[in-house]
Amino acid sequence: MSVKRNKVTIPELYGMVERGERISFLTAYDYPMALLEDRAGVDMILVGDSGAMCMLGHPTTLQAKMDFMVEITAAVSRAAGRAFVVGDMPYMSYQPSDEIAVKNAGRFIAEGGADAVKLEGGARMAQRVEAIVDAGIPVMGHIGLTPQAASMIGGLKSQGRDAETALALMEDAEFLEDAGVFAILLEAIPARVAEEMVNRATVPMLSIGSGPACHGQLLIVHDILGLFEAFTPKFVKRYADVAQTMTAAFESYVHDVQSGAFPAAEHTYRIPDEEWGRLSQLLKEEEE
Ligand code: KIV
Repeated sequence: MSVKRNKVTIPELYGMVERGERISFLTAYDYPMALLEDRAGVDMILVGDSGAMCMLGHPTTLQAKMDFMVEITAAVSRAAGRAFVVGDMPYMSYQPSDEIAVKNAGRFIAEGGADAVKLEGGARMAQRVEAIVDAGIPVMGHIGLTPQAASMIGGLKSQGRDAETALALMEDAEFLEDAGVFAILLEAIPARVAEEMVNRATVPMLSIGSGPACHGQLLIVHDILGLFEAFTPKFVKRYADVAQTMTAAFESYVHDVQSGAFPAAEHTYRIPDEEWGRLSQLLKEEEE
């Protein structure tokens, strides 16, 4: 497989859209995963607050903290030689005020090395988007199923399935575009509604569970690898069963330790015979 090496930038993402090339987008939460994604040619990496669930075992994304997000974003940024890195602003890191939003978005860039930040919400978040963009930080919008607002939108459910809510999503997208987002992520929106939104869009529209018309596709890496077993959304395609491969490796290790098959001679260090002889002599002298 040929791998493109130049760092992806916002103009390059717009160029891809113009050329009709689809943008590949995956989450990553650590250095080795990001390194492999970058090497495979993934265009964009989201350091999602889903890391609180996939990496830390929390029940929702609401438990993600700024310090954790910034630390893992920095690890991903160190690995992403080419991919465009988006830091996901966690719950309550931008909702309280413009000032808090700008300060925390700045941490993703300055400490996390991210290329942009993402935040959830449409019209009601337009002012926050404007404040962050005014500070010179690129913002990706995120509408549809927005997990940080799960209790307000009726749970982790597809959104925009009736005419009124679909229209409201289109209006949300317009507010975000006017506020200055460089792209919008559409989560779990019916494919026909998403297609209409793409037709009206002035910025790249990326999909997670919103159909093939979007300019790019995002999935959560733990879902595609079979590493997250709590639940699997309808829109996930699984590309590997890494959990099975890892479990088999761990079982073999346990077996080898118990049977003594590990470590073998090739896994141990040698002391030269001459030094071994001298040590024996020293021990003998100590005993006398
Ligand atoms: O945190 C995340 O991975 C996300 C995606 C679900 C869009 O925000």
